Amino acid sequence: MLASHSLASTWLLAALVAVVDCKIDRESIIRQFNLRLNQSHAYSPVQVGNGNFAFGADVSGLQTFLPHNTLSSWGWHNSSLPTTPNQTAISDFTGQDWWTHGRLVNYNQPNPAEKDISQWLIANPHRINLGRIGLWFGGKNVTEDELTERTQTLDLWEGTISSSFSWHGKSVTVKTIASPEIDTIAVTITSELLGNGELGVFFDFPYASGKNKFDAPFVGLFNATSNHTTTLTSRKNSATITHTLDATTYDTEIRWESEGRIQRTNNETHSYVLTGKDSETFAFTATFAPKAANSQGSFRDVKKSAKDWWKKYWSTGAFISLPSATNSSAKELQRRIVLTQYLLAVNGAGKDPAQESGLVNNGWYGKYHCEMIFWHLAHWTVWNKWDLYNRTIGVYERFLPSSYDRAKHQGYQGARIGKMQDDNPSGWSAPGEINSLLIWQQPHPMWFAEMEYRKSPTQKTLQKWDRVLAGVADFMASYAWYNQSTKVYDLGPPMYPVSENTNPNQTVNPTFELAYWRFGLDVAAKWKERQHQVVPASWRTVKDNLASFPIQDNAYVLYEGVEDMWTSPEIASDHPGFLGLYGWLPPDPRLNLTVFQNTVDKVYASWDLANLYGWDFPLMAMAAARLGDGEQAVRWLLDVNNQVNELGMPEGGNRVATPYFPASAGMLLAVGMMAGGWDGLAGSVFPEDWDVEVEGFQRSM
Ligand SMILES: *[C@@H]1O[C@H](CO)[C@@H](O)[C@H](O)[C@H]1NC(C)=O
Ligand SMILES: *[C@@H]1O[C@H](CO)[C@@H](O)[C@H](O)[C@H]1NC(C)=O
Ligand SMILES: *[C@@H]1O[C@H](CO)[C@@H](O)[C@H](O)[C@H]1NC(C)=O
Ligand SMILES: *[C@@H]1O[C@H](CO)[C@@H](O)[C@H](O)[C@H]1NC(C)=O
Ligand SMILES: *[C@@H]1O[C@H](CO)[C@@H](O)[C@H](O)[C@H]1NC(C)=O
Ligand SMILES: *[C@@H]1O[C@H](CO)[C@@H](O)[C@H](O)[C@H]1NC(C)=O
Ligand SMILES: *[C@@H]1O[C@H](CO)[C@@H](O)[C@H](O)[C@H]1NC(C)=O
Ligand SMILES: *[C@@H]1O[C@H](CO)[C@@H](O)[C@H](O)[C@H]1NC(C)=O
Ligand SMILES: *[C@@H]1O[C@H](CO)[C@@H](O)[C@H](O)[C@H]1NC(C)=O
Ligand SMILES: *[C@@H]1O[C@H](CO)[C@@H](O)[C@H](O)[C@H]1NC(C)=O
Ligand SMILES: *[C@@H]1O[C@H](CO)[C@@H](O)[C@H](O)[C@H]1NC(C)=O
Ligand SMILES: *[C@@H]1O[C@H](CO)[C@@H](O)[C@H](O)[C@H]1NC(C)=O
Repeated sequence: MLASHSLASTWLLAALVAVVDCKIDRESIIRQFNLRLNQSHAYSPVQVGNGNFAFGADVSGLQTFLPHNTLSSWGWHNSSLPTTPNQTAISDFTGQDWWTHGRLVNYNQPNPAEKDISQWLIANPHRINLGRIGLWFGGKNVTEDELTERTQTLDLWEGTISSSFSWHGKSVTVKTIASPEIDTIAVTITSELLGNGELGVFFDFPYASGKNKFDAPFVGLFNATSNHTTTLTSRKNSATITHTLDATTYDTEIRWESEGRIQRTNNETHSYVLTGKDSETFAFTATFAPKAANSQGSFRDVKKSAKDWWKKYWSTGAFISLPSATNSSAKELQRRIVLTQYLLAVNGAGKDPAQESGLVNNGWYGKYHCEMIFWHLAHWTVWNKWDLYNRTIGVYERFLPSSYDRAKHQGYQGARIGKMQDDNPSGWSAPGEINSLLIWQQPHPMWFAEMEYRKSPTQKTLQKWDRVLAGVADFMASYAWYNQSTKVYDLGPPMYPVSENTNPNQTVNPTFELAYWRFGLDVAAKWKERQHQVVPASWRTVKDNLASFPIQDNAYVLYEGVEDMWTSPEIASDHPGFLGLYGWLPPDPRLNLTVFQNTVDKVYASWDLANLYGWDFPLMAMAAARLGDGEQAVRWLLDVNNQVNELGMPEGGNRVATPYFPASAGMLLAVGMMAGGWDGLAGSVFPEDWDVEVEGFQRSM
């Protein structure tokens, strides 16, 4: 049992800053971090968007010089199926059978005998770039260097990009805004060049480059013009461009407010030019949709709704003010917090969980990962931004039937959540050895449900989650395997732990997964009790009889029986997921804090920290914070290996996987927990000499 006095003593070490019930001047803090740029960034766009749709701009405010992407939650494409004999249909894929506790279980893994259909299932469908919109300089090839007096501001408070420059001594300004409701960008261009036919707007549409796992920084093929079609239907003040890529078709509806004309530039390409007439201001909207609808309104309408939406976004939920004026670390953390909040509303608040790179570019073919749902979404709960959280959280209920099918197919009870998914309604998960053997995505719904119940302890919340928790808990209980010789329930083999770097056939009883299993089954049991329903016996039996945490030399280790863990370069790198035992998770009943502290010390001393990236830093910050060390927590968040560039984009472990938004969302979760506290700790944990003001946080578990 956890000795409560040891917890209390760590709290004494913590710098406790009382929650001040104040009204922070949010607007001035946010505007202090508005982007102010004067050139395009090689791979990070300045974005406007709404969580389901984002438009990435270069220094022109459009996609003039760099083909930054326009991505959505609904734009996907399938390549044609393979023509290899016996691999021409999805049903030809059979996966692989692996021995699992004395029986063969069929896993959704690439099968060497079915290489082509396996790969097709991994790569399809893939997310598409909906189109490029840029400035057209009367047909001249103008480069960014030719523009003078370039300035660009992203006003975070209103969600507006204002860009301006001079060309041949004539000034041009561009305002770019995205609608918060529909997938529209609204643009106003002001320049005397407009009237002379020297300035207009081009639209270009790429084919899908579905063969690239990382389609970054620029998505799609603009040179495969014969593989797809576009057609233009032009009216007086509007036009529809219908783009067809094999079975995928969608419309771009363009509306302009003064006299204008749109035409195709060349019948061999998919580019179009829109020009105004006799006017120094030209405003237009471009709406992307599976099928054109006439609802986007004018530039002014979009501007108004964006302004209202962003103001509400910034004014509701939690906020934190750090001593930016007196401490450069505090200022950098404040910058990251503000820019990240902007970017996550644009990239990480859609109908589906976010892909790692949000709507900036495509990683893993544009698909999302179910084990990462926690890292993308959890922060909304502690920051009390429930409406954004709500947009995505339905994913568990939506895919519950396929989760049941997956478990049944493998001979388990209940519902087994998938791994790497897309917008396919069937809920299929991409084949993969790791994909099929990870298990830490399973208890996520329990964490979310419990946070929601703390916020809203109602019958409605209980009902909302009951089916999902029951299905997942049934699977978790059924997956745990009763070991006759040790009389405990084992997790694995085969399995992969959080760190994905072990031999799956040897991996058994990993520390973090044991704790998370117990946590998940405990929440599921409470859920039934709250509804005065019977708790299935198997949930309790497994919860109470899970294998002990593996300990070697008084420290927790990755999994039971791991050899040379602290000296093996393969093991002592990658995510130190076991640190989630205390920090990310509330204290487990079997947690020994002395052993945990030893574990933390060993990680600090021997881990390959230079190879850490993304959410590893918030993970370690949460552990440090829970141990009462706010200074160390902040150091992890600002670690030299955890960079955030001038646009607020988290630099991933490598350029290809940049941005890597789990780092951003994880940072907000860690900050939110440090600001809002957790059970037993009212107050916040930041460096003692920081004058921190917080308001509106939801306390964590
Ligand atoms: C552009 O911005 C950078 C960074 O703020 C600054 O160093 C540089 O002088 C600016 N260049 C111009 C031409 O304004
Ligand atoms: C891709 O193919 C799958 C399987 O036929 C189908 O369910 C899905 O809707 C397709 N997606 C697209 C974007 O065509
Ligand atoms: C295709 O399947 C048939 C029947 O299972 C088998 O006889 C044939 O050898 C297979 N062909 C190839 C190319 O694998
Ligand atoms: C794990 O065992 C299965 C057989 O059950 C085998 O096919 C597979 O190659 C093994 N994997 C590793 C990484 O050893
Ligand atoms: C435009 O100019 C740039 C720089 O001079 C050159 O690299 C590019 O190929 C040109 N593009 C076209 C379409 O002429
Ligand atoms: C098309 O463009 C891609 C890069 O976007 C390039 O790799 C490829 O070689 C080009 N193909 C042709 C036929 O030019
Ligand atoms: C475009 O179509 C041609 C002819 O069907 C095909 O050979 C080529 O691979 C396709 N290109 C892409 C990028 O799919
Ligand atoms: C494109 O084709 C249409 C009819 O096929 C023709 O009227 C038009 O002039 C062509 N445009 C260009 C730019 O070649
Ligand atoms: C900022 O605060 C941190 C944490 O207390 C401290 O380590 C650092 O020295 C401070 N920096 C400055 C410039 O005061
Ligand atoms: C979130 O959704 C639930 C039901 O799905 C609803 O009861 C709740 O009011 C929603 N909360 C917000 C803030 O939208
Ligand atoms: C039961 O647990 C022991 C100790 O962890 C392990 O060595 C053994 O392999 C397990 N039995 C089976 C059949 O997996
Ligand atoms: C925690 O572990 C330490 C070191 O192994 C041990 O001395 C101590 O008795 C343990 N505490 C409890 C409460 O089990």
